[in-house]
Amino acid sequence: MRAEPEHLSSPDASANAPWDTWRSHEALQQPAYPDAQEVRRVTEQLRRQPPLVFAGEVDDLRSWFGAASRGEAFVLMGGDCAETFEEATADHLRLKIQTLLQMAVVLTYGASLPVVKIGRIAGQYAKPRSSDMETRDGVTLPSYRGDAVNSYEFTSQARVPDPHRLMDMYHHASSTLNLIRAFTKGGYADLRLVHHWNRGFTSNPAYVRYESIAEEIHRAVKFMEAAGVDFDSLREVDLYSSHEALLLEYESAMTRTDSRTGRAYCCSGHFLWAGERTRDLDGAHIELLARVHNPIGVKVGPTTTVEQMIGLMDRLNPDGEEGRLTFITRMGADKIRDRLPVLLEAARADGRPVTWITDPMHGNTITSSTGYKTRRFETIMNEVRGFFEAHEQSGTVPGGIHVELTGDDVTEVVGGALHLDDEGLQKRYETLVDPRLNHQQSLEMAFQVAQYLSRVGK
Ligand code: TRP
Ligand code: MN
Repeated sequence: MRAEPEHLSSPDASANAPWDTWRSHEALQQPAYPDAQEVRRVTEQLRRQPPLVFAGEVDDLRSWFGAASRGEAFVLMGGDCAETFEEATADHLRLKIQTLLQMAVVLTYGASLPVVKIGRIAGQYAKPRSSDMETRDGVTLPSYRGDAVNSYEFTSQARVPDPHRLMDMYHHASSTLNLIRAFTKGGYADLRLVHHWNRGFTSNPAYVRYESIAEEIHRAVKFMEAAGVDFDSLREVDLYSSHEALLLEYESAMTRTDSRTGRAYCCSGHFLWAGERTRDLDGAHIELLARVHNPIGVKVGPTTTVEQMIGLMDRLNPDGEEGRLTFITRMGADKIRDRLPVLLEAARADGRPVTWITDPMHGNTITSSTGYKTRRFETIMNEVRGFFEAHEQSGTVPGGIHVELTGDDVTEVVGGALHLDDEGLQKRYETLVDPRLNHQQSLEMAFQVAQYLSRVGK
């Protein structure tokens, strides 16, 4: 990430910013705060906080998305379904970063392509819910909407949306980004440590496979050192931050004007996306995202029509700027081969560039025989394969993957090389919302994707 200082000024707290137009649009999935006055007090404070990310970094990432749309880079985006404040610790974050680095190594090496590394991290604290209320044993309370809104604990006190959590979100995002910058710029991400990130487990196939790649990279680096080559780029990585732009009060309070260009940037994260439930063309989320200059994603599910898709291009990328608009497809393994090609071909015919990323997780959620919300690793990989097939058929470019993962050894997704079964889920099922790939499943996915990717265009 570029570190030069920039001038991102916030308007004075009371002024109506140019990006505040979302207020006159319908805003879905917003918390019902009991005290509007308190929300105003908190957002006024947020407007005075320093930005979490900088315009130059955001611009760099937009160029990378452009490269991915042309097949010159591949986007790896991953992290929790819902980050929690409690797990924003050095240990959890390190394992997650390590997992992303290992996946990036496997993909870079396997596909000989630059990998754009993006965490679903440092801001993924809010969740849309299908129901406003949750009932347990006859007691009905507001649903948990993520740590940025209320507490998971099932008491009436805990479930009341609290605007002060927006400030907590800012501080957790800030300390998380600080740790990311330290890890990725301070020596930990040095490619010479490629062995070190593999935590010494050699008892399963993904680790063994990783070890052999690590050995080859290690030898290549040694060779280059002996030959007097000294690449600075081996030492550091750019790890960008992304989250769903759900809470409009927070996102608009974190938006700043870049004094170099007069453009607005949402400075809560580099890449922001709108979910399948909040991507309405006339809705408040699309209105806000249309007014900031970040690279933007929109989740598109199996019911998305060509008209809706073109409408999103008109609203979010009317001039066809490269890297500006990404569609993150979440079709379901059984539908992707049928639904995706129609969209790909219509976008190609339109001509404005789109970066296509697959989210193979959200269309494939099931309930296990033991009652857990889970996903099958083989089904997830089937959707990834369907994504590559659809692009091959349509002559378009598969630009990246978006996955829910953790660096911890949880048991939330069934299947994979270790054949985790329905019974095994109870061992370490820790997610508060959706099931995540664990460390070994994440690596396994990276190996398979590297293989699909190395065949693209051949
Ligand atoms: N800077 C390069 C890159 O980001 C090489 C690199 C350094 C790297 N450390 C890494 C790649 C860790 C993957 C993982 O691609
Ligand atoms: Mn999820």
